Amino acid sequence: MIAFPSLNAAADLVEKLERERMLSRGEFKSLLAGRTLPGLTARLFERARAARRAVYGDAVYLRGLIEFTNYCRKDCFYCGIRKSNARAERYRLSREQILACCAQGRALGFRTFVLQGGEDPYFNDRRLADIIGAVRAAHPDCALTLSLGERSRASYQTLFDAGADRYLLRHESAAPGHYRSLHPAGHSLRNRMRCLSDLRDIGYQVGCGFMVGSPGQTDDCLIDDLFFIKDLQPQMVGIGPFIPHKDTPFAGEQPGGAPLTVFLLGILRLMDPALLLPATTALGTIHPQGREAGLRAGANVLMPNLSPVAVRKKYMLYDDKICTGDEAAECRACLERRVNAVGLAVVVSRGDCAGFLRAAPASACSPASEPAPIPGPVVRRQDQFFSVPIPAFNPIPELSPAFEPIPAFVPAPISESPLTAKITELPHA
Ligand code: 5AD
Ligand code: FES
Repeated sequence: MIAFPSLNAAADLVEKLERERMLSRGEFKSLLAGRTLPGLTARLFERARAARRAVYGDAVYLRGLIEFTNYCRKDCFYCGIRKSNARAERYRLSREQILACCAQGRALGFRTFVLQGGEDPYFNDRRLADIIGAVRAAHPDCALTLSLGERSRASYQTLFDAGADRYLLRHESAAPGHYRSLHPAGHSLRNRMRCLSDLRDIGYQVGCGFMVGSPGQTDDCLIDDLFFIKDLQPQMVGIGPFIPHKDTPFAGEQPGGAPLTVFLLGILRLMDPALLLPATTALGTIHPQGREAGLRAGANVLMPNLSPVAVRKKYMLYDDKICTGDEAAECRACLERRVNAVGLAVVVSRGDCAGFLRAAPASACSPASEPAPIPGPVVRRQDQFFSVPIPAFNPIPELSPAFEPIPAFVPAPISESPLTAKITELPHA
């Protein structure tokens, strides 16, 4: 039985998390139990922003998302493009369409492209390596992220060798029972973790993540996710609220909340100040100022849609997804305004994870494992890996200017920002 903490006790936990970068399971339980305490979120977010600022300054990175196929062989219960959804109108972009999206994106200031799709066997290694090579040749100054689901280690290696830098694969839930309840038989958490482990070993900058408020998710499940992330030490973590899709088995389920999502963003930022943390489209869908709230809680990445307008409504993972009508240029300008409104600045940069890739222990990929001692990190610079010593519980890399100079910008004082009030007013889930 977890006692509801006093504000002082909960604030002490925030301080401890900032100091030690981790809490025990019981402490996380108390912190999560106290999340509605007046004043606690303001405290957490203020510390999270300070942690982000120490590593990334005021920079917000953009990733141009190209959703190039909505064919998927998987059947996740929550997802609108699951294979059993006969109402999904399927599409694939051609190599030329993908390259046109990248060219448009580069002109708009994007320096990272994310090729995302369902698990579509049409895009075999040969086709993908050809596309990756063409993007790389056309835009040698841009990073290329893949988000294509579960593949073999050999396939990940082929795509890495073809020029991909990063890979996003949300683990979805590190709690085995909860994972099973979100997926039909044949979908395996063990295999997902194998994939993440392979991706990291190969040398990708890796992103995992999960939905917040998915059916059956408890605080214990979320804490399993936090422990898993601590073990894996990814470079990116994508979290967003679960939002039901009308043509899935979860159509009638409650959506996840923006307040819990941003609370978790704050926790993740304190667990690892160097993380790349997107304020996701799902967060912007569940609340009109969700992405701003995410940025104010410690997020530092936005992933606007670069897909051709004609296909955007077909990549409906959940109902009412925003930004499915805008031109890319409109979306870009809109985001810049939103970022400036919270005192941050969009930078034209690849936006690599500051400092290093860190090696994680072999145990990282056993479900819900407790955190193991953190070994020395592996640093990747100019395609070289080398180990550097790391002080216990203080894995903050040296500030390295991983981005082009940030345009001069004078942020409004945090306490006077009208958004502070807006965020604390988000209804509690
Ligand atoms: N609500 C919110 N997020 C979803 N995703 C899939 N379906 C939904 C949904 N209904 C997320 C999953 C997946 C990512 C691409 O989108 O976490 O990994
Ligand atoms: Fe699994 Fe879409 S069917 S994420």
